[in-house]
Amino acid sequence: MPLKNFSNEKIMRLKDKVAIVTGSSSGIGKAIIERFAAEGAKVAVNYLPGGPHEKEGLDLVSRLGECALAAPGDVSKRGDVERMIGDVVAKFGRLDIAINNAGMEIKKPFLEVTDDEWNKVMTVNLFGSYLVSQVAARQMVKQGPGGKLIFISSVHEDIPFPEYTAYCASKGGIRMMMRNLAMELAPYKINCNNIAPGAIATPINQAVLDDPQAKKNAISEIPWGRFGRPEEVASVAVFLAGDESEYVTGSTYYVDGGLTQQVTTY
Ligand code: BGC
Repeated sequence: MPLKNFSNEKIMRLKDKVAIVTGSSSGIGKAIIERFAAEGAKVAVNYLPGGPHEKEGLDLVSRLGECALAAPGDVSKRGDVERMIGDVVAKFGRLDIAINNAGMEIKKPFLEVTDDEWNKVMTVNLFGSYLVSQVAARQMVKQGPGGKLIFISSVHEDIPFPEYTAYCASKGGIRMMMRNLAMELAPYKINCNNIAPGAIATPINQAVLDDPQAKKNAISEIPWGRFGRPEEVASVAVFLAGDESEYVTGSTYYVDGGLTQQVTTY
């Protein structure tokens, strides 16, 4: 019987897998790209052309070299999404993993929200996730059995967040979409799962991180006593993108330092 290998040689958990991560030039998406590349994956870095993180995206791609591809495009435009996934397949030959990470939020009392604000949030977060998932899943089905769809939702797929109604509605919608897709795509062995981050130190939370009182208030609600790090979300993404999660589908994984477990103490 061959001896078990106890050497410290690094196991590449995503060796030669091909992944696209939307909104991956900053924050959680960027951390996922960096970790996936370190695990041996080929990665497509998506960012909005002309957006605030375009340069960071281009720098990331050139830093990673041959294993990376720039995938500029708007996730809410079918033409862009089809072109991006077409480019991934042209360069790397297939698509194994699609991570719906691109997202935005607008803080506004519900009574003041405009149609444009509502539509903007829903279009990027929910419609964009639908588009990328559909185009990616069609490619996966064409390739034969297998594939991973991962959605970066939020603890607010479940818990309310006053003044972020469109954001919460979009994330709740992502939760139901993921569960439905888990059923419809099971015959093709495409795993569909959510990661629900809590308060993670990324640009989306910059205003809170920069305001000592707001930061203190936020931390007081997190049992773990601190903001999360993007790398801590990426660790769960590696599991859900790799072969070890073969039997996991239709689930949400919370990465929130206990934030969701709201305790009533009075
Ligand atoms: C939101 C953050 C918020 C966090 C925890 C995230 O989904 O994007 O603004 O701090 O949830 O409430």
